[in-house]
Amino acid sequence: MHVFDRAFRLVLPLGAIAVLGTVLTVGWFTQPDRYAKGYAPQQPIPFSHQLHAGTLKMSCAYCHGGATKSRAAGIPSVETCMGCHKVTKTDRPAIQELTRIYTSGQALPWQRVHTLPDHVFFDHRPHVNGGIACQTCHGEVQTMKVITREMGMRMGSCLACHRDPHAALPKGSKITRGAEHCAACHR
Ligand code: HEC
Ligand code: HEC
Ligand code: HEC
Ligand code: HEC
Ligand code: HEC
Repeated sequence: MHVFDRAFRLVLPLGAIAVLGTVLTVGWFTQPDRYAKGYAPQQPIPFSHQLHAGTLKMSCAYCHGGATKSRAAGIPSVETCMGCHKVTKTDRPAIQELTRIYTSGQALPWQRVHTLPDHVFFDHRPHVNGGIACQTCHGEVQTMKVITREMGMRMGSCLACHRDPHAALPKGSKITRGAEHCAACHR
């Protein structure tokens, strides 16, 4: 066999497979956190949704009122916490740390859990005002000690619901579909 035949029939395909395999492996392990379900970064203050939204039954809107009024649901300011924690559990280390941050005038460095790339447009309003529960996308937040991402952040997850939102909407809703044209989410 000619030396080049050998190269083309064996070495090249094997080489190509090796390169492709490496690219896929590196890509998989270095993909942005925003695509990994179960992502639950450690937070600067051990704030528990299970305690505040579950046991204490505080409504989501108390801290995330933006969800019905703006694109972002919003993260509450330390002032919101201090409305209670100036007097509540002030002997606990976590609350003393919270108080220290509050007095210093800093913002809390909360770690983002849900993120989309810049080229994607998301707005809470049409979803929340259309009657879709926070839990449909974010999971049973009121049972979470640490916020964990349960929703798929891929385009396919958005589209799957937009094509058939029936189960996510309240009974009797007049909405039949979400937008599928590209400019709805890429503007
Ligand atoms: C007492 C205030 C408070 C209440 C009530 C509350 N949250 Fe939160 N929420 C926070 C704070 C503070 C953070 C940021 C720290 C964290 O991620 O734990 C947060 C983070 C989140 C996040 C993650 C945001 C991100 O980074 O992507 C979601 C989703 C969320 N809350 C949903 C809810 C839902 C749903 C409810 C009602 C069941 C609720 N929250 C009730 C204060 C609150
Ligand atoms: C249709 C799915 C969906 C519903 C319903 C929904 N969210 Fe979200 N939420 C998202 C997505 C997607 C993001 C990430 C947005 C981004 O990165 O721009 C997000 C981000 C957030 C964040 C962090 C960033 C921000 O917007 O401030 C909080 C807090 C949050 N949601 C709370 C809530 C609460 C509370 C409700 C119910 C009132 C709710 N969400 C309903 C999909 C949803
Ligand atoms: C409406 C009142 C209220 C608000 C607002 C509130 N909390 Fe609390 N929080 C409580 C109560 C009550 C407890 C104690 C529950 C218990 O242990 O019985 C508590 C407990 C805690 C604890 C646990 C303390 C420990 O070590 O036992 C942390 C941490 C905490 N809150 C952080 C926050 C943060 C951060 C915010 C703002 C995002 C916030 N809280 C807003 C009422 C509130
Ligand atoms: C659980 C179901 C569900 C999920 C998941 C969902 N959506 Fe939606 N979305 C809807 C429905 C239903 C509507 C239509 C609401 C209406 O017509 O009032 C909508 C409307 C929208 C709109 C407004 C479109 C317009 O007409 O201007 C945008 C933008 C949007 N969604 C983006 C997203 C993005 C981006 C994601 C994924 C990160 C997503 N949605 C995930 C159900 C969903
Ligand atoms: C309901 C919202 C929604 C609609 C409608 C939508 N997209 Fe997307 N698209 C997303 C989200 C969310 C992402 C980011 C997550 C991902 O890459 O899967 C994305 C990512 C992309 C990317 C980048 C993929 C990558 O790997 O970085 C391209 C290209 C794209 N969309 C093209 C389109 C085209 C073309 C259409 C119209 C046929 C469209 N999208 C309609 C939500 C949407």
